[in-house]
Amino acid sequence: MCLSLIEPHIKNKTSSEELNMILTQYVDTLSQRMKYHIGYPINLSYEHHATLAPLLQFHLNNCGDPFTQHPTDFHSKDFEVAVLDWFAQLWEIEKDEYWGYITSGGTEGNLHGLLVGRELHPSGILYASKDSHYSISKAARLYRMELQTINSLVNGEIDYEDLQSKLLVNKNKPAIININFGTTYKVAIDDVDMILQILENCGYSNDRYYIHCDAALYGLIVPFINHAKIITFKKSIGSISVSGHKFLGCSMPCGVQITKRTYITTISKQVEYIASIDNTISGSRNGLAPIFLWYSLSMKGNAGLQKDAKICYENARYLKDRLHKAGISAMLNEFSNIVVFERPCDNKFIRRWQLSCARDTAHVVVMPGTTKEIIDNFFKDLVQEREKWCGITLGPCLADDIGSQNCLCSYRNMHH
Ligand SMILES: Cc1ncc(COP(=O)(O)O)c(C=O)c1O
Repeated sequence: MCLSLIEPHIKNKTSSEELNMILTQYVDTLSQRMKYHIGYPINLSYEHHATLAPLLQFHLNNCGDPFTQHPTDFHSKDFEVAVLDWFAQLWEIEKDEYWGYITSGGTEGNLHGLLVGRELHPSGILYASKDSHYSISKAARLYRMELQTINSLVNGEIDYEDLQSKLLVNKNKPAIININFGTTYKVAIDDVDMILQILENCGYSNDRYYIHCDAALYGLIVPFINHAKIITFKKSIGSISVSGHKFLGCSMPCGVQITKRTYITTISKQVEYIASIDNTISGSRNGLAPIFLWYSLSMKGNAGLQKDAKICYENARYLKDRLHKAGISAMLNEFSNIVVFERPCDNKFIRRWQLSCARDTAHVVVMPGTTKEIIDNFFKDLVQEREKWCGITLGPCLADDIGSQNCLCSYRNMHH
């Protein structure tokens, strides 16, 4: 595709047709490639673009605090507050006790949550597990915070013993802890109750720690899977963030950040130019995103989200079972929708299926649009190609990456 920009006066008459043709081809390519998008946590099946398309003609900008008056009419703060109220209810915090805003994604939510923690505890140390998203260490760099990286267990959960020993060593300084409510690679859930207990055991009182929950993908799944642990502000946590484009499938990157109203004053500053309070990370904010979120949540409702979560849960298990039956090492955490398996040997295969890889593994993220048909096509392709890479031998040992119980390498086969 040649996309170099040419000044309009140099173009010939057909140039606008050419531009349209390029766009049509691009839409066709994307539509085709959707069937091969299984490596990243994006729900590509947003169904409401046609209904919402007329909004694209307006510039909607939610600059400043969502709860203050706006100087122009070109914003969507009423939609934004409606979405925030919905999340506040989901995470069990009263309307008059929370503050939040629609972010540009999970990263911005993490940056905001950790900034609140840092401002409440300026000398605090940030604790985060190795499996935390890279935005957490980015926050430490941006805010020049001391970061203590905690080991992870093989399932991706934080290593509680390592956390405890590091908290004890640094007892003289407050703790700002990032808790993963679904890690990026394995969807492991750090146990909030266990971490609160460790803080208490180590002598950290409520006013000497701050907990931010990174629930980028999983914050919208786990509440809708029966019997799963529920994330709630009833526990002693300071903020929760989630991505809007991941499970819900908003067409543009976005997210939700919720914290306690009493905390937000620590980073709030009145700005006359915008006739509002500056307490968000970015200045201008996408005003379309709250409407896309509001529409999707209203159309799906709790029942729709429950249905989506159940489909992902079942399809992920279906894939893991197929891989195991074919002798391919694979792991799937309880309630998780991410199947981690042996890394394909061929980069063309990895690119074809748009897979994300780490060390000797790759993963498939089963999202609402990841149908059984897509899973079957992927499985068939993998098994066929794998025969070329491995012949009849079994795959590499992945015990360190996914646990010995999930590893089907030749060594384990011989010893079991
Ligand atoms: C656990 C976790 N946190 C944060 C993020 C960042 O989210 P975003 O890409 O919306 O900025 C991700 C993205 O994959 C994630 O998995």
